[in-house]
Amino acid sequence: MVDVATLHFFYHKIDRIHSLVIRHQTFDICHFKSGDVQNELDKIHQQALEALAGAETDREIEDLAIRYLGRKGILTQFLRNISQLPTEERPAAGKKANAVKTALDSAFKLAAEKLASSGAAADAKIDVSLPGRVPAQGTLHPITQVNQEICDIFLSLGFDIGEGPEVESDWYNFEALNFPKNHPARDMQDTFFVSDDVVLRTHTSPLQIRTMEKQPPPVRIVTPGKVYRCDSDLTHTPMFHQVEGLLVDENISFGDLKGILTTFVHQMFDEQTSLRFRPSFFPFTEPSAEVDILCVICRGEGCRVCSHTGWLEILGSGMVHPALYENVGYEADRYTGFAFGMGVERIAMLKYGIDDIRRFFENDVRFLSQF
Ligand code: PHE
Repeated sequence: MVDVATLHFFYHKIDRIHSLVIRHQTFDICHFKSGDVQNELDKIHQQALEALAGAETDREIEDLAIRYLGRKGILTQFLRNISQLPTEERPAAGKKANAVKTALDSAFKLAAEKLASSGAAADAKIDVSLPGRVPAQGTLHPITQVNQEICDIFLSLGFDIGEGPEVESDWYNFEALNFPKNHPARDMQDTFFVSDDVVLRTHTSPLQIRTMEKQPPPVRIVTPGKVYRCDSDLTHTPMFHQVEGLLVDENISFGDLKGILTTFVHQMFDEQTSLRFRPSFFPFTEPSAEVDILCVICRGEGCRVCSHTGWLEILGSGMVHPALYENVGYEADRYTGFAFGMGVERIAMLKYGIDDIRRFFENDVRFLSQF
């Protein structure tokens, strides 16, 4: 018969053996013969150092440290199970195992420090072949681009570039351009007044007077600039840009006006763009004509953009009124010439198919970066 105490003793023993087998898959102390332990620890130490010599990254060193010194690591388990050894071997084995543990611990630390100071760890994380990030680059505003394009065309036709003030006297903006005081034509110009006599220029036409005052004929000039009108909707902003043109010499005819403006339209849009000269009125030109181009959207069929007329107005023009020559001291019976003025935003809208003029002033990069 086996008594209960003996049974318990055996269960306890089996339990212990079982847990050793489970826990010591990497290192089973039970397999050591007496006297083997010292050798075995030397071997573990040696293997760890060899593996460490081959480690090239932080990660590899860390994995080795876990494998040998971690909570379930080879040396930790060894120390934990020293009690399984014969009593007389335990002190020496414990001492040796601790020494190996300390030695490996400092070997791992040293290897990690060396790696960090050599920069290899950092280098391993940087892929030098990756393309760099390209900084976003600014572009010229579409209005600036179209403005330059317009001026370039006229420069190539022999015109010069000029400019003048945005705050103008009533004389230059109106009076000298043959707008008498209280003339209804002034009404068309939704003027911002600075004072009774001073305005924000409503067009670039004052440059016709300023240019002729400064120089004798012949005159061949284009003058780009900002102009102001008290108006705001889908196709109007209180500030917009115009380019004015003026050509004065002997024997200049309406045929010259048509030739120059036809060349301009063909270069600005394309050779196929039809245009027409439609009679109009401006106090400072006689005769006057507005220039329309065939609708760029429907090609003349009629659509919303051209109000179903098939045509789009792009500029005002005409032969310089003799009254202007009187005002600047030119010989009115000797010289003739023509002038024209166009809205830069309008040309840009037609060229790029933009239906709201306010897009140009919202500074939305998604819009601007398309140009
Ligand atoms: N200044 C006129 C406008 O703003 C355009 C124009 C310029 C007309 C020159 C004729 C000659 O509407």
